[in-house]
Amino acid sequence: MPQKKKTSASQKGQSTKGQQSKGSTGKGSTGKGAALKTQSTKSSSGKGKRALAVKVKSAKGRKISSTRWLQRQLNDPYVQRAKDDGLRSRAAYKLIEIDDQFKLIQQGMTIIDLGAAPGGWSQVAAQRANSIKGKGQVVAIDISAMEPLPGVDVIHLDFMDDDAPNQLITALKKDAVDIVMSDMAEPATGHKQTDHLRIIGLAEAALEFAIEVLKPEGVFLAKVLQGGTEQDLLNLMKKNFKKTRHIKPEASRADSSELYVMATGFKGREI
Ligand SMILES: C[S@@+](CC[C@H](N)C(=O)[O-])C[C@H]1O[C@@H](n2cnc3c(N)ncnc32)[C@H](O)[C@@H]1O
Repeated sequence: MPQKKKTSASQKGQSTKGQQSKGSTGKGSTGKGAALKTQSTKSSSGKGKRALAVKVKSAKGRKISSTRWLQRQLNDPYVQRAKDDGLRSRAAYKLIEIDDQFKLIQQGMTIIDLGAAPGGWSQVAAQRANSIKGKGQVVAIDISAMEPLPGVDVIHLDFMDDDAPNQLITALKKDAVDIVMSDMAEPATGHKQTDHLRIIGLAEAALEFAIEVLKPEGVFLAKVLQGGTEQDLLNLMKKNFKKTRHIKPEASRADSSELYVMATGFKGREI
């Protein structure tokens, strides 16, 4: 594991850029790729129901793409359900589904959430690891500001910043991490190849970090996009973990090429 850098006292307890905040407020407390099979998660927990479709009229000054986004949001059962359940994002249901199926998160675990804002995954992790009650720890990082959350230590920083790995490691209460999960994604450019390369770049950086901090048998989970050149990522995963799979949760929009790669059974650093 890389050397821990010392963090000044003032760096703790704030959510300013590059710094860490311990949450105390906030809403809710709540394969084989080229060679891997894509696995759909089967869970009823992520399904929402909404009978009536809401039509959004185009408005003066609003772009067609914004109208489409608004219409999709208003008709998305997961968006409504997240509101009802006090979860900060519909994305939370993707982690709920994955965890319901694979039972990754256990009470007392140390979990690092990369690309955490607005905080849906962190909420799920904090609930299931019980860091809300002081068991285990959830450390979240995002390039965008994120409101504090109970049981979550938030770092506002670009994960690609040279200092980010050290800041994350400094924030840890224990040396070994059980799960590194990344839902990191930059805003889509619309150019398929560019978006793909960017997301794979983030996933590769997340994997390299995971290999540095995970304890043996640890888990790595990351968002990728379907198709293209992710062979390096898969090769590194296969080399370092006992099992690697692709997952498309039901809560992941069917029209999105988003997928998750999950690697379980980290073999340890000395391989
Ligand atoms: C799909 S959202 C994550 C949603 C989150 N899992 C949830 O449940 O609320 C992707 C996030 O990745 C973040 N992100 C993108 N690039 C990043 C980077 N280089 N460092 C840190 N966060 C990044 C974005 O700011 C965004 O908040």
